[in-house]
Amino acid sequence: QGLLYARGTYGHKPKVPVDADRLYEAAHKVMSPKAWGYVAGSAGRNRTDKANQAAFERYPIVPRMLRDVSKRPMGVSLFGVDYASPLLFAPIGVLEMAHPEAESAVAKASRELDIPMVLSTQGSTPMETVAKALGPTKFWYQLYWSNVDALAKSLVQRAEAAGAKVLVVTLDTHAMGWRCMDLDEGFLPFALGQGIAQYTSDPVFLQLAAARVSSGKGSAAPPQRPTLSALWGLASIVGHYPGKWIDKLFSPLPQAAVHSFLDVFPCPHLTWKDLAKLREWTSLPIVLKGIQCAEDARTALEHGVDGIGVSNHGGRQVDGGIAALDSLEEISREVGGKVPIIFDSGIRNGADVFKALALGADAVLIGRPWLFGLAIDGAQGARDVMARIAAELDLTMGLAGVAGVREINRECVRIPKA
Ligand code: FNR
Repeated sequence: QGLLYARGTYGHKPKVPVDADRLYEAAHKVMSPKAWGYVAGSAGRNRTDKANQAAFERYPIVPRMLRDVSKRPMGVSLFGVDYASPLLFAPIGVLEMAHPEAESAVAKASRELDIPMVLSTQGSTPMETVAKALGPTKFWYQLYWSNVDALAKSLVQRAEAAGAKVLVVTLDTHAMGWRCMDLDEGFLPFALGQGIAQYTSDPVFLQLAAARVSSGKGSAAPPQRPTLSALWGLASIVGHYPGKWIDKLFSPLPQAAVHSFLDVFPCPHLTWKDLAKLREWTSLPIVLKGIQCAEDARTALEHGVDGIGVSNHGGRQVDGGIAALDSLEEISREVGGKVPIIFDSGIRNGADVFKALALGADAVLIGRPWLFGLAIDGAQGARDVMARIAAELDLTMGLAGVAGVREINRECVRIPKA
């Protein structure tokens, strides 16, 4: 931390800005309007996104003096596993839009910092490839539950086999939010075959796609080439997708894959009852991401989940929704330490992390900040952003009179009167 501070103050002007607003502007400059709209945009008039960030102003830190803060351990234990810090890379799909090295760049940053990634179902790289690149570094897996259970099960079991430590099930995206920037740009990355690598590397998905091709049913844009059906059939029989090789032959990605993906992606009929299936599919700890009120947190506990993910998806789903930090405040009172709480949405720096931990989070997911870093300077950019958030968290603890992450509690912030 000391070194990082020194580097930033002795003549070296970093490529990736430290200041959160400048970081945002610098990322805007390097991204195409479509990519920027997808990444920076939120639902509707961005009111939830703004509320997420504004909420941090309402819980000021109360620094305490004359406490020994010479040691400030950052480590946490989650679901029986030790982690170096309470930070994780949030699951973010379609990373190829931000940088061509996508997950391989983030995996590099994750390894170097020992900060785990949460791999997205909408990833640009098959999860097994990322797991390999991560080596011994821990990672979690985020599931979008498709409307074909067999596919969801296959993704979960692949993640467990690849070594994921935790399954994060995102509940808030059974349909895409009303994203004005994307609508104005006429842009949906999935429609271009971006962000569907977990699917096109999945044997169950390949069978679905092959069945779709051979039946010709409901295909708005049937495959262009006559041999495609045979190839897909063959790929599904051997349970192996020759990946890049097929992509090269049928560039852009076979439309059948894209249409099959659009068929299976949303699952709006899921209910609490469906959660029991997850227990049959996997022995991984299960975190529900997208919980926003105490009532849902209570129901989640009644259904035996292992962790609560307080999140509103960075405001990308509902416009004018409750700020995530306000959700956290009420949910952590309800949960009362029974299970870990993983928080995200609106964190922009280390002081924000401190506040989230004070309000009851056991760990936090960092989203757009590292994505902006990635867009500006690849692996190094993602790494810089996360390292600085960790450094600022450490410094904030010290200056607030708190001797380590486990000591951060509600008394560290002033909670507004209701
Ligand atoms: C996301 N997020 C997300 N969440 C998830 O569970 N699976 C995913 O594939 C994605 N993809 C994704 C793409 C992009 C471009 C963004 C910005 C976000 C949501 C993410 O995990 C996290 O909840 C938010 O990023 C948190 O909000 P802030 O802090 O980034 O504003």
